[in-house]
Amino acid sequence: MTTHTTTPAATGTGEGGTVLEATGVTMRFGGLTAVKSVDLTVNSGEIVGLIGPNGAGKTTFFNCLTGLYVPTEGRVAYRGTVLPSRSHLVTQAGIARTFQNIRLFPNMTVLENVLVGRHTRTREGLLAALLRGPRFKKAEAESEARAMELLEFTGLAGKRDHLARNLPYGEQRKLEIARALASDPGLLLLDEPTAGMNPQETLATQELVFAVRDQGIAVLVIEHDMRFIFNLCDRVAVLVQGEKLLEGTPEVVQRDERVIAAYLGTPPEEVAAASRPGGAEDGPGAADGAPATTAERPTGTPDPGARNDTGGHGPAGTEGGEKA
Ligand SMILES: Nc1ncnc2c1ncn2[C@@H]1O[C@H](COP(=O)(O)OP(=O)(O)OP(=O)(O)O)[C@@H](O)[C@H]1O
Ligand SMILES: [Mg+2]
Repeated sequence: MTTHTTTPAATGTGEGGTVLEATGVTMRFGGLTAVKSVDLTVNSGEIVGLIGPNGAGKTTFFNCLTGLYVPTEGRVAYRGTVLPSRSHLVTQAGIARTFQNIRLFPNMTVLENVLVGRHTRTREGLLAALLRGPRFKKAEAESEARAMELLEFTGLAGKRDHLARNLPYGEQRKLEIARALASDPGLLLLDEPTAGMNPQETLATQELVFAVRDQGIAVLVIEHDMRFIFNLCDRVAVLVQGEKLLEGTPEVVQRDERVIAAYLGTPPEEVAAASRPGGAEDGPGAADGAPATTAERPTGTPDPGARNDTGGHGPAGTEGGEKA
């Protein structure tokens, strides 16, 4: 990991303890309470899942955690320090995220997209990454080495000079992860990282998330694919209509009557079978009454979370561009 041109390491590896502590987070939009007094912690070394039906408030909660929204009530602390509701400061503190609707710079190369994600950790910042002036050559070389490490890590090194828009959908999702990792986070938030992926790509993403965790980065992940969630997570929290219905191990959550009734719509035996390797081919998300698995959502189809990813402005791919 490059240190010469970096600001003090945000978080990266190490200590243990609580990484994220959200307390009483509430988000109201006029008369609608999208998130109701949600408490959630993520500890070092954990992969925590956040599930719930469409419109449950999952993405809104992520937006509150990452400073895109100022929560109506509640607070968010990262490693014991309350975070300001400013996305670039949240990234700098050590939380990185991907978006439900992919947000890359489509006309920049794969490598350049990762370099943009690196700017919070370099003194020269975004402008230097884009201008490539001679003054910044050494710093740039170091940033590029780190970006290449991340492209190796995510399996995209061979595509470094491809334009992001030309990557297949699954690789664009991986590139989002590489870009998020470029800020050297201690916590990575993934909003539907396997949406639109085929089963092989989903499995590869599962391995990638385990590898991220093994690097000392805690993970909080939203997904509709229950097999993915129950295979991956140490703990799962269930949001229904903005409220945390339940939190527990995958074993506990997938057998909870309220979860089955409110979300899965599938008998517990089938849920358990689907979550075992080699279990039922169709996950519970495919059952009647359950939300469609994200893989079934056609790429490019507008979905209910679309509007609150962006807040309607800012260049694609810049989390810091959301709030001045
Ligand atoms: N900016 C906004 N203004 C008004 N209402 C919003 C806004 N963003 C989200 N909502 C509403 O808040 C609720 C929660 O939406 P959110 O996108 O957080 O759900 P979600 O759990 O991420 O759903 P999905 O699984 O479909 O992505 C929905 O009723 C949605 O319509
Ligand atoms: Mg969402």
